[in-house]
Amino acid sequence: MEALKRDPIDHDTKRHLEELAKEWNKIQEQERIHSSSFSPRSCLPDIILKQNVFGRNQEIERVTKMAEGGDIPVVLVTGGPGFGKTTVAKRVAHELEISEKEGTVLFCSLQTKSTLNEVAIRMINICGSVSTQVPENPGQWLRDWSKQIQSQVTFVLDNADGVLDSGDRESFLSLLCDLRSLSRQKVTFVITTRKTFEHSDLQPKEVRLHPLSTEQARDLLVSRVQVYEGAPQKLCRVDYIVSDLCGCVPLALCIVGSLLSDYSEETLIASLEKEPLAVLEDDQSSVEKAIKTSFDLLNEPEQEAFILLSLFQGSFDIDAVQAVTKAECSISGALPISILRSLKNRSLVEKPYSRRYQMHPLIQSYAKKIGRDRYDELLAMGEKLACIHFMLRLAKNANIYWSKDTCKDSLVSFQEDKNNFEYFLQIYARGREEQDQEIVNGCSF
Ligand SMILES: Nc1ncnc2c1ncn2[C@@H]1O[C@H](COP(=O)(O)OP(=O)(O)OP(=O)(O)O)[C@@H](O)[C@H]1O
Ligand SMILES: [Mg+2]
Repeated sequence: MEALKRDPIDHDTKRHLEELAKEWNKIQEQERIHSSSFSPRSCLPDIILKQNVFGRNQEIERVTKMAEGGDIPVVLVTGGPGFGKTTVAKRVAHELEISEKEGTVLFCSLQTKSTLNEVAIRMINICGSVSTQVPENPGQWLRDWSKQIQSQVTFVLDNADGVLDSGDRESFLSLLCDLRSLSRQKVTFVITTRKTFEHSDLQPKEVRLHPLSTEQARDLLVSRVQVYEGAPQKLCRVDYIVSDLCGCVPLALCIVGSLLSDYSEETLIASLEKEPLAVLEDDQSSVEKAIKTSFDLLNEPEQEAFILLSLFQGSFDIDAVQAVTKAECSISGALPISILRSLKNRSLVEKPYSRRYQMHPLIQSYAKKIGRDRYDELLAMGEKLACIHFMLRLAKNANIYWSKDTCKDSLVSFQEDKNNFEYFLQIYARGREEQDQEIVNGCSF
């Protein structure tokens, strides 16, 4: 260079320059070719062996099929705390990797990531394009990156609750939209979250995880009991433990299984009956912590409604929700149905069938515990309102039983709420005994 600046340009220098220009053109061309055949390498967590995952075959197959081919922009895997979303996502990632149709699979754990920058940096690192320096604008970096990719890329974004519940939610979703369109629909997402969402461009398709069947739950529990010496202890009440005490939730079953290596069956049952949430905890995981993270993300009216719903026994309908949320609190003004929908979207409430809702027993135990510790006045008020509601309904039910052609309706309605009727009759009886004016006056038929 120095020589070029200094010396006059003679014939030799001209030739030399032409050669250099040719060389540069060649390098540039090579770079262009390299970038046009750009495809990152898969990045996956350790494989979970098929024999260690109980049930979930259908869900894994459905999610894999939906994500394959890349026609569906976003596949959502939703379900309550500890139901096994991450486990399903890990298996799906490996299934996609071996599937011939699939190009690259990038598994990103977004646990503890709640800002767009944190999420984008995590995604960049997983792309394998680790630069020594974090790009100044990670979102823009990903957008530019997506323009170059040539074959299908599936991002598995695991535990996306943090960013979806943050102020960066909209910019996160618009990043996903951009990656999809800039890559000419070559990028697809599988997202695990407790809370479902809708989006007009991404049009997510949801696969919801429910608790395991009793049989699958039993197999999972037994697989987790470690036997140190001799034969494993024979469990006499295994179905009671898996269904009634653990609600067939994988996380609870894993913890109880490991506890059965140390405690006898009777001791464990007695402790679970008394204090389920305290027992369902080990060094690494806790059912309570899992539910708490969902609870902490609720706004105040939702938290209060969540506590009030724990008063119901078994399933309930919107009328019952309307009755208890009349309790004086920050709920007033918010529509019970929208609160209920939000709790359902966050997997804190289930809708087992049309117009009926219910709380999973472990989630209900948590709501009751928090209610006792922090919301005792609200709960006391809610209990009276629920009692009045069910006693009035019971009276109405009795009337329609004797009316013409409505006997069957009365029986169906009674059957649906029989647990609530039974429970709140006791509250009513106590209220009368203690001459609680609110209950007595409220229930004057
Ligand atoms: N089907 C299953 N078979 C065996 N173990 C399972 C199954 N599902 C989940 N587990 C185990 O249960 C625990 C919780 O599972 P996982 O982390 O997948 O739940 P999650 O729904 O992702 O929880 P979170 O809501 O906290 O994100 C893990 O230890 C996992 O290994
Ligand atoms: Mg998870």
